[in-house]
Amino acid sequence: MRLHRTPPTTTARRLVGLALAPTMLALAAAAPSAAAPRADAQQAQAQAAQRHGGQDTLRRAAPRDLAVGTAVAGGGHHAEQDYADPFAYDVEYRERMAAEFSSLSPENQAKWEYIHPRRDFYNFYPMDAIVRFAEENRQVVRGHTLFWHSQNPEWLEQGDFTDEELRAILKEHIQTVVGRYAGRVQQWDVANEIVRDDGSGLRVGPTSEGGNIWITRLGEGIIADAFRWAHEADPRAKLFFNDYGVEGINAKSTYYYELVQDLKAQGVPVDGFAIQGHLSTQYGFPGDLQANLQRFDALGLETAVTELDVRMVLPENGIPTSAQQAQQADYYRRTLQACLAVEECNSFTIWGFTDKYSWVPVFFAAEGSATVMTDDYERKPAYYALQSTLRDARRGGR
Ligand code: G3I
Repeated sequence: MRLHRTPPTTTARRLVGLALAPTMLALAAAAPSAAAPRADAQQAQAQAAQRHGGQDTLRRAAPRDLAVGTAVAGGGHHAEQDYADPFAYDVEYRERMAAEFSSLSPENQAKWEYIHPRRDFYNFYPMDAIVRFAEENRQVVRGHTLFWHSQNPEWLEQGDFTDEELRAILKEHIQTVVGRYAGRVQQWDVANEIVRDDGSGLRVGPTSEGGNIWITRLGEGIIADAFRWAHEADPRAKLFFNDYGVEGINAKSTYYYELVQDLKAQGVPVDGFAIQGHLSTQYGFPGDLQANLQRFDALGLETAVTELDVRMVLPENGIPTSAQQAQQADYYRRTLQACLAVEECNSFTIWGFTDKYSWVPVFFAAEGSATVMTDDYERKPAYYALQSTLRDARRGGR
């Protein structure tokens, strides 16, 4: 089992992103500190950890070689709610995130529409803040995402670019963003959701119908280029495919299984395959999840669970029944157990840890309670299912 630690950064590496785009206006937070956390921040975080569980947290329970992560709320659906940006303003949220988790994923803050809102302008503020927070709290970061059909800025989607210009735009984006965080991001979701839901092929077609602009305009070969450019910009980052609906062995996951073999045969630097894990108690648990992760592991890839949540149709009073809570806990436990049973499944992330900020009720009418804590940070049976499973694995020597 390999241990993955974010190695110390160097000034030279941090400057790569800026050097690649010398004419860009780069709106950035103050220069990030070196990897060594600042003493005052560390002390504050230690005190916060005591207030929110002390030793009794998920990251403390976890085996040393498993990063246990959460999405960091911000952007996306949060922008439409009546609360301020959670990561910037909710102190209790930040403290609990530091106490409970050893890995952070920007929920929206590193997506194209946020980090590259105009062609000649990058907004690094939110992602810089997340990376710095992670370093202060000895957490690793999963970067999300570089190559997607969704949440692209209007200038890109509506722009009248030649194929050659589009290719240059993608290359510059990947090298600028990955280069900026080189040595500070453990894993990147390079290509996100590139396969059609029925597994019949890549998302080719109009963007209005869910087509991936890059593959549609530039052909399948652009996928390999995206991985190559990311690898050039940060040779230490682990580069992943990431998708939903690929938990079990099905047409969609099998498409990826064949695609990664083709790419590996060409020497493309693909390191991992990640399942998102947006599950619902309405549907059966994908019992072949472990077998699916295992077949990718057998190809020499790392695997990861990157966006787990388990939603449910709520009763009229909005409160889940005990049977629903038990079923949810069971789904969380089994997903974690599947990852723990696969040797190179080293990263396990939930898509938010409190219902207060979950994307689920915004997307699915009458559904909710998908995370492991209530709005008031009360731990649910699902939380305890994760904690006890992590403890068992740690005691068992994983
Ligand atoms: O872009 C529209 C804008 O044109 C419109 O005016 C505005 C008002 O309704 O909505 C904007 O879209 C929002 C979008 O984020 C863009 O930022 C959606 O309403 C909002 O619901 C959406 O939320 C994010 C979603 O990704 C977008 O697909 C969520 O916050 C985020 O949790 C979610 O995360 C994704 C992962 O990245 C990939 N896997 C699935 C996961 C859950 O959907």
